[in-house]
Amino acid sequence: MELPFAESYKIKMVEHIRRSTREEREVWIRDARFNLFNLRSGQVFIDLLTDSGTGAMSDKQWAGMMTGDESYAGASSYYHLKDAIRDITGFGYFLPVHQGRAAENVLFSVLVKEGDLVPGNAHFDTTKGHIEFRKAVAVDCTIGEAYDTTVEHPFKGNVDPEKLEKVLKDNPKDKIPFIVLTVTCNTSGGQPVSMENIRTVSSLAGKYGIPLLIDAARFAENAYFIRQREPEYAGRSIREIVSEMFSYADFMTMSSKKDAIVNIGGFIAMRDPELFRQASVYNIMFEGYITYGGMSGRDMNALAVGLYEGVDLDYLETRIRQVEYLGRRLTDFGVPIQVPVGGHAVFVDAKRFLPDFPREEFTAQTLAVELYLEGGVRGVEIGALMADRDPVTRLNRFPELEMVRLTIPRRVYSNNHMEYVAVALGNIYDRRHTIRRGLKIVHEAPILRHFTVELEPAV
Ligand code: F0G
Repeated sequence: MELPFAESYKIKMVEHIRRSTREEREVWIRDARFNLFNLRSGQVFIDLLTDSGTGAMSDKQWAGMMTGDESYAGASSYYHLKDAIRDITGFGYFLPVHQGRAAENVLFSVLVKEGDLVPGNAHFDTTKGHIEFRKAVAVDCTIGEAYDTTVEHPFKGNVDPEKLEKVLKDNPKDKIPFIVLTVTCNTSGGQPVSMENIRTVSSLAGKYGIPLLIDAARFAENAYFIRQREPEYAGRSIREIVSEMFSYADFMTMSSKKDAIVNIGGFIAMRDPELFRQASVYNIMFEGYITYGGMSGRDMNALAVGLYEGVDLDYLETRIRQVEYLGRRLTDFGVPIQVPVGGHAVFVDAKRFLPDFPREEFTAQTLAVELYLEGGVRGVEIGALMADRDPVTRLNRFPELEMVRLTIPRRVYSNNHMEYVAVALGNIYDRRHTIRRGLKIVHEAPILRHFTVELEPAV
């Protein structure tokens, strides 16, 4: 008999989590203004809000924490991290920052100006936020298949080369500071970008003389999918695939809170010493001196270790199989999800779950609130709330995809937890016809509103 798959780690420390009652949750969600970000963690049983900074560090990462060098300048921890980044990504210059959006802030301060266009594959909301904040425009060039959750496509994070080339051809070069490729593409469902597509985008970038940025938050999960789904890469090591991916880019931003399995941290890496010098100025201003940039020495040590753990094939297989397991169980219950299942999360298609629901009452947010009430499970809305208003017309934007993301922290939950989540959502699916009214906004911020929005029932 073939041996069953089992996790490539064992558990050394546990954290208690408490199950609450539906009555308790009804009070808590009202007090939280129907915004799941406002809940206290103790009010949540299984927390699938994000995979960002929520992973469990290994014993080796914790050992690194104990030997962190907290010198203001020139700390050995900085050099450990520099060596790890160069070894894994091939980039010779790097700046530490406190997390991914800080990397965007520093790099875009150098590169993005008013009136610019930044084409890419479904920019993540902070990436888009940092572009729009500078009065520039993020142009989504993702393939059309990404926006149909029923279409099976192995690389739904891919850029459509025709859409991209049109942007590059129709606009002056000095209006396009770079192209951004987000691997995996969070917004389209944690969907990977193929090596072939990275190569194509890179050659288009070269043809038009535009640099290529990789938003690398989930680069290792992307490499795993390339290995699984792109025949040419079947027997190759994750390290080799990762090196090749980065070889096509000019610079990268990294939220280390994802694939590097740390609780805080990020970095920018590049090849060009002049860009490094320019970005250093902003890094010092916004983040900290160039050899710590918003991170402590101990955090840089844990990150240096985490980068290697994140590209370990056994770990990645354990990780992705758990996400697939949740997707499979939800499918068993008939719950509509983005297929194939992505790397870090299962994305539930709220429009197909609640087809007759009024979109202006925030379908996915309503479903996310239902899931919390049903089982104390916290997912996150990736839909109209997160899409913000159009910066010019100030009207609500209703994006193609209206999803509840069930994001799985790394090395944290068991498959029994996944089973619990699937049953909770399955129960709601069985009574979906009873969910008719949603939510309305009471208060919202001008940008990135979903974090702080206050809502109330629309009835
Ligand atoms: N890029 C991508 C693709 C991301 O998913 C994120 C964060 C960032 C950049 C920004 O990084 O959070 O470290 O500042 N995504 C988190 C999420 C918040 O829940 O998907 P950050």
